[in-house]
Amino acid sequence: AINNGNPLRVASPASNVTSELADIDWDNLGFGFMPTDYMYIMKCSQGENFSKGELQRFGNIELSPSAGILNYGQGLFEGLKAYRKHDGNILLFRPEENAMRLKMGAERMCMPSPSVEQFVEAVKATVLANERWIPPSGKGSLYIRPLLMGSGAVLGLAPAPEYTLLIYVSPVGNYFKEGLAPINLIVETEMHRATPGGTGGIKTIGNYAAVLKAQSAAKAKGYSDVLYLDSVQKRYLEEVSSCNVFIVKGNLIVTPAIKGTILPGITRKSIIDVALSQGFQVEFFFNLLNEFDMKELRCGGAKVEERLVSVDELLDADEVFCTGTAVVVSPVGSITHQGRRVTYGNDGVGLVSQQLYSALTSLQMGLSEDKMGWIVEL
Ligand code: COI
Repeated sequence: AINNGNPLRVASPASNVTSELADIDWDNLGFGFMPTDYMYIMKCSQGENFSKGELQRFGNIELSPSAGILNYGQGLFEGLKAYRKHDGNILLFRPEENAMRLKMGAERMCMPSPSVEQFVEAVKATVLANERWIPPSGKGSLYIRPLLMGSGAVLGLAPAPEYTLLIYVSPVGNYFKEGLAPINLIVETEMHRATPGGTGGIKTIGNYAAVLKAQSAAKAKGYSDVLYLDSVQKRYLEEVSSCNVFIVKGNLIVTPAIKGTILPGITRKSIIDVALSQGFQVEFFFNLLNEFDMKELRCGGAKVEERLVSVDELLDADEVFCTGTAVVVSPVGSITHQGRRVTYGNDGVGLVSQQLYSALTSLQMGLSEDKMGWIVEL
């Protein structure tokens, strides 16, 4: 280990890394924070480009009390996962998509951002340095959390003079306490997550703090999470606190269109492509459900639509599911809206949701051939 005066700083952790797994209970991973071995840090000044970063021992960081992120919320985050394949190789899922989304968000938040290559290299280095924390195949994944923050001190409202990209990781299992069982959502009618012209479409930290009040109230009443409506007409679906939403009706798979107030989820985008590529299977399952529609569906196939989705359509759907890096594909068992509770068929685990979940996770875990070119093998 090389240290530049800081005993915790290492240039290459390879010698410290053992190939043995960390000694934790791999069978009971939830989505809680667990400290690991290394984090990645890269800094730059306002108006400059990020240059070389480095791995450091995982630990607390030092920030000025006047840092832009602490005072004015000038910060973004990302989320992606690494999987251990059955042959022991490590797989990342579409890391360049996260790099590009971070760039888009940084532009909106007046922050410099690392290049796509810098981001992907930094993610790879962080994952490899923490290899022993990647769950065994089938037991979960290593959640990777890149943070981009205004770390320099400001007092008057302005972009911070210095920025830090920090990447840390934590082994995770299922996001919701329900595990893979269907979740129960409540539609929020008073509070909104985002407004037109605001920052709903980027992954800024403030978007997530803004949902805590509604989410806490919902959880206190026994719901898993909250589904938000648009803030203008108050009748079209936006997203759930931490994920996007899809409905299935007949041979249609529909999700709200991205229009600035909805986070452009990488899982959302991938599920749309997986659904299109799996046309036959989706069609097949619909046929099983609606036998007398078989002929028409065989000709027409399943369609995926991105458009406005009203609450009425939601309540009339055959299936509802959520997508996100953390939640993967979570079936929705019930939706409550203004006191009315609607449950979804098959005990909430719809066949289409199940099919899409299997197709996506098989790809992510390296169990099926990656025809999309989405997997980065380390
Ligand atoms: C993710 O799915 O990666 C997210 O960033 C959502 C977060 C609230 C856990």
